[in-house]
Amino acid sequence: MDFTKVSEGKTKIVYDYDKDHYLLYYKDSITAGDGARKDEIPGKGVLNAQTSAILFRLLESKGIETHYVGMYDERTMIVKKLKMIPVEVVLRNIATGSIVKRLPIKEGERFDPPIIEFFLKDDERHDPLLNYSHMEYFRLFSRKEAEQVEEVMKQVNNVLYKFFLEKGLLLYDFKLEFGKYQDRLVIGDEITLDSMRIREKDTLRILDKDVYRKGADLDTVKKNYEEFFKRIST
Ligand code: C5P
Repeated sequence: MDFTKVSEGKTKIVYDYDKDHYLLYYKDSITAGDGARKDEIPGKGVLNAQTSAILFRLLESKGIETHYVGMYDERTMIVKKLKMIPVEVVLRNIATGSIVKRLPIKEGERFDPPIIEFFLKDDERHDPLLNYSHMEYFRLFSRKEAEQVEEVMKQVNNVLYKFFLEKGLLLYDFKLEFGKYQDRLVIGDEITLDSMRIREKDTLRILDKDVYRKGADLDTVKKNYEEFFKRIST
């Protein structure tokens, strides 16, 4: 790409586009266990860029601000230049994943209201859980900002949960990242099968990155990502 690279993560590259915008390039890589397992799935970057675009547009149409501006090409997004806060914010509707390992909670338990958690982005320390005091100490989110973020998480959940249910899909949990844009907290990063847990409503078949985390072959993973994209785009 003919632009200056700003940063590169495990699955995306950020380029400087113009004064107010970055380009977000979605790679074909897939990783799990904080980078312990890593593979390439040709075409995955396109699927994830397109999935993210659909979901960012959906949120924008409901008045929820995201960094999404438009597409540069099929796997590259034009986004607002946010100053990212290195925190992963997770909302859980149904228990699975790290919470059932950390706390005495059974797989499949429903949370009403949903549970919201904050984690520090730190692969070396396996993304430790943060409370409000930690976030104030590290100057990540003030208490007021953390509450604001929780409110946005609930709004996003209301929109996404309903949208997926209409497609016969269950949203177990999802992760968002936020950044500052002209003093506002705005949703950045991505919304894809890498950052959400989605199960088929009737069979509870796993469609998301958990199939890869559990060791499935790359062909099966790609088929799931393709099927999911087809279901949300029709
Ligand atoms: O692993 P855990 O149960 O905490 O994950 C909660 C949600 O956050 C899942 O949807 C997972 O895909 C997402 N997540 C993520 N990036 C991480 C860790 C979790 O997108 N580094």
